[in-house]
Amino acid sequence: MIDRNTNVQITDEALAFAKPMLGVVHHEDCLTTMQKISENSVDLIITSPPYNKAGYEGFIRKRHERDRWNNGRNIEYGNDAENDFMIEADYQEQQIKVLNEMHRVLKPNGSIFYNHKVRVAQHKASHPIEWILKSNVTFRQQLVWNRKNSPAVAPIRYLPNTELIFWLTKTPCQPNFERVQKALFVGEVWEFSAKPNSLHPAPFPEELPMNIIMCIKDKTEDFVVYDPYAGTGTTLKVARSFGLKYFGSEINSKYCQLANDTLNGTLF
Ligand SMILES: C[S@@+](CC[C@H](N)C(=O)[O-])C[C@H]1O[C@@H](n2cnc3c(N)ncnc32)[C@H](O)[C@@H]1O
Repeated sequence: MIDRNTNVQITDEALAFAKPMLGVVHHEDCLTTMQKISENSVDLIITSPPYNKAGYEGFIRKRHERDRWNNGRNIEYGNDAENDFMIEADYQEQQIKVLNEMHRVLKPNGSIFYNHKVRVAQHKASHPIEWILKSNVTFRQQLVWNRKNSPAVAPIRYLPNTELIFWLTKTPCQPNFERVQKALFVGEVWEFSAKPNSLHPAPFPEELPMNIIMCIKDKTEDFVVYDPYAGTGTTLKVARSFGLKYFGSEINSKYCQLANDTLNGTLF
């Protein structure tokens, strides 16, 4: 089959990639999952990695004391997900690897929506575009999620109440997308509050994947959505509600179970 937009050949092998992998959140590192997937096989990736807030702010030195340092500032993903405490250079290198794997498995007309944010430490801000542009992806558009509230309330700067969603593609091309009037937000700023969840420290609201999936033009029978950092499974839950195929990866056993139970309808 030839992709209409890019004239790139999609092999049968790629189309048949992951049938046994679909409908499940896999309990493993997302790089391990993606290594099992053929190139050009996923239509849409919507994801939010850990922000390495603790590592970024230099708290890695305080790791043994992290409970005290946690205190509302750091995100604790649990014993088998240490990524929020990485040395920043290692974190950025890891994110470039993940972006390159997402780029490899993405179909030529597919899209990646990568939620991250500007982080601040020692009075210096760092923007995710710094490492995104070092990867193989094509940067298409920056969307702003106005969370309307902020965990950082110190009156030393304007309230940092936004996060970013980077729309990335495989090549500079028109992806499978059409901005529809009935979308929740048609501009570059999307406004919805983060909803606290007692079972996970940082889920994003359903409005985020919903506004993306509403604007996918051709939602074919074999349309596949992947979330490499599935968390509670928000992306996949919304994908399922649109009748799309989905799968995810989640390194933390507790969250993985939670996401699978939610998707299987045994929870909520
Ligand atoms: C920001 S949360 C994602 C929340 C998700 N968007 C939701 O709505 O629930 C990031 C998740 O990635 C998981 N994680 C961290 N490192 C990972 C890795 N290498 N592979 C897969 N999952 C990972 C964490 O355990 C955490 O649940």
